[in-house]
Amino acid sequence: MENNSLIPPEELLALAANARQQAYAPYSNFTVGAAVLTADGRIFLGANVENASYSLSICAERVAAFTAAAEGALPLIACAVVAGKKNEPAGAVLPCGACLQVLIELGKAELTVYTIGEDDVVARKKLSELLPSPFTGT
Ligand code: THU
Repeated sequence: MENNSLIPPEELLALAANARQQAYAPYSNFTVGAAVLTADGRIFLGANVENASYSLSICAERVAAFTAAAEGALPLIACAVVAGKKNEPAGAVLPCGACLQVLIELGKAELTVYTIGEDDVVARKKLSELLPSPFTGT
């Protein structure tokens, strides 16, 4: 059994959708929820948190990934993202480049990203497909 099937993608997305309700996004009015799954089966949630000094804002995916790291729960094996305009249904949003770089650092190369695609079906992509040439520092 593939590790990712520790939890069905639909359930990870449902947790991300729930986390999205905690988004603090008074500046962009774009709310994002994320749920990361770790290799040992734990799940950590995040939502975007903005600031009047815009550049201090942080994405939902990084909140979730950093929380998992701070709990000693690495590596990550999956990340679900649910996002859209505040009080509107979610669209097919994938993590931004900064978050992909963080997921590469804290996750496995074959980490799967889930989002809600057309007609509410689960869309999935491999992290290596989304960021094939990450910065490695070497
Ligand atoms: N945002 C995320 O939370 N995740 C992403 O992958 C991209 C963007 C947030 C940042 C900001 O609070 C809002 O969405 C609009 O960019």
